[in-house]
Amino acid sequence: MYKTIRIFDTTLRDGEQSPGCSMNLEEKIEVARQLDRLKVDVIEAGFAISSPGDFQSVQAIAGVVKNSAVASLSRALEKDIDAAYEAVRGAVSPLIHTFLSTSPVHMQYKLRMTPEQVLERTRQMVSYARAKCPAVEFSAEDATRSQPEFLARVLQAAIEAGATIINVPDTVGYVTPDEMAGLIGYLTQNVPDLHKAILSVHCHNDLGMAVANSLTAVGAGATQVECAVNGLGERAGNAALEEVVMALHTRRDSLGVACRVDTTQLYRASRLVYNVVGMTPPRNKAIVGPNAFAHESGIHQHGVMAERTTYEIMTPESIGLSKNRMVLGKHSGRHAFKDRLQELGYEVTAQEVDRYFQEFKDLCDKKKTVTDDDIEAIVTHSRGEKPGKYALVRFDVHAGNAATSSCVVRLEADGETTEEVALGDGPIDAAYNAIDKITGLGAHELEDYAIHSISQGRDALGEVIVKVKAGNKTVSGRGLSTDIIQASILAYLNAVNKLLEKGEDRGQTGDT
Ligand code: KIV
Ligand code: ZN
Repeated sequence: MYKTIRIFDTTLRDGEQSPGCSMNLEEKIEVARQLDRLKVDVIEAGFAISSPGDFQSVQAIAGVVKNSAVASLSRALEKDIDAAYEAVRGAVSPLIHTFLSTSPVHMQYKLRMTPEQVLERTRQMVSYARAKCPAVEFSAEDATRSQPEFLARVLQAAIEAGATIINVPDTVGYVTPDEMAGLIGYLTQNVPDLHKAILSVHCHNDLGMAVANSLTAVGAGATQVECAVNGLGERAGNAALEEVVMALHTRRDSLGVACRVDTTQLYRASRLVYNVVGMTPPRNKAIVGPNAFAHESGIHQHGVMAERTTYEIMTPESIGLSKNRMVLGKHSGRHAFKDRLQELGYEVTAQEVDRYFQEFKDLCDKKKTVTDDDIEAIVTHSRGEKPGKYALVRFDVHAGNAATSSCVVRLEADGETTEEVALGDGPIDAAYNAIDKITGLGAHELEDYAIHSISQGRDALGEVIVKVKAGNKTVSGRGLSTDIIQASILAYLNAVNKLLEKGEDRGQTGDT
């Protein structure tokens, strides 16, 4: 019998707070539903005090999640804890996650507090949180650069004040696996009541050791790992959830532990999160990258055909990547389409089925066969696309290698249409210049533009992902079409609409 390790997911908090990874309310709810299906133990839904939008999304997620606990982050301040509790109180299992730094450098320069003040604040705020909520996690920020003796005193104080989970973050991704194991061993010996709380770790990936550090911490006695889908998170990110989970699953013989996560939902979770933040996986990304199960060399292919385990340590099916991705076509009816949506794990209302089915039929007119990947792209795009201020009515491009490109774009906003023409260095630049003339969005910059095909063939759906920066805000935009210029325009408009609506929200304190 294996010991069970809890999986605490922070995709929607640490992941979402990293630059260019912001999500709108609908996208966050969609991700939370998938995390619930994945059966993670905790979903950290956001940082409720940081903005009204964050508060609203934590509260909405608390209302829809059926199995996992739902947490909100809060600094060790009464007003943060109040907001966190208000946001999660409707959850089946609410959790307040409060944190305070314990390293000399953070205490001196960030908090401007003495160690004794940190100790006292920990006591007060954990007990304040515990008076509201039966489950409270305390994180000693920058724990791995703290003096172990002082860290042990703070953690003991937090447990005495009622913390039910004690988290040891490697905030700056600094420790090595041996040091992490040593620290967990030290705390186990020197925090007298540690056995009364769940011991958690939260590792960042600055030196590429987040997963290794999490696993050695588990080997040393930690029973909760904090991680994020696709390794999203501040800077180089957090430990990648899919890597931690598949390591626990594949090597339970050696690690002697397991977790509750349904591994067959991992691929879908990864795709969804990449889609909503506008990223594509590196080809060689462990577990979920396009090459993770691809065998290119003849010797390997031959080996796998003779006996799968010659070169495969886990099956694609174990992460939910079916080899037989179903194909639908223009003769497929609404019924078959709806069944397929359900088999793919989507909970859909009748109106959603109608909308997606219409998009599916439109696609069938342009493309011979429609794969599961296409259907997933249709659903993700439709759900993520909150109608913005501007919508595309039509465009007309003229381009060639011997002429300056031009584009006429007509957009609709608040029932009125506006048309502009612009020149550019190629049809997409021309289209973007025309859109800029219409929307009048202030200084901004196209930081990234990426295009990829959803499935194979010349008639494949193309997905364009752009990142646009205005001031200190970076947003991503996505567009989907069999016409790559249209996909490019839709992606840019999606980003511009987000920037236009973003001014009001974000940032009373996005600071952790
Ligand atoms: O990295 C970190 O220290 C954090 C804490 C707030 C848990 O994200
Ligand atoms: Zn973190």
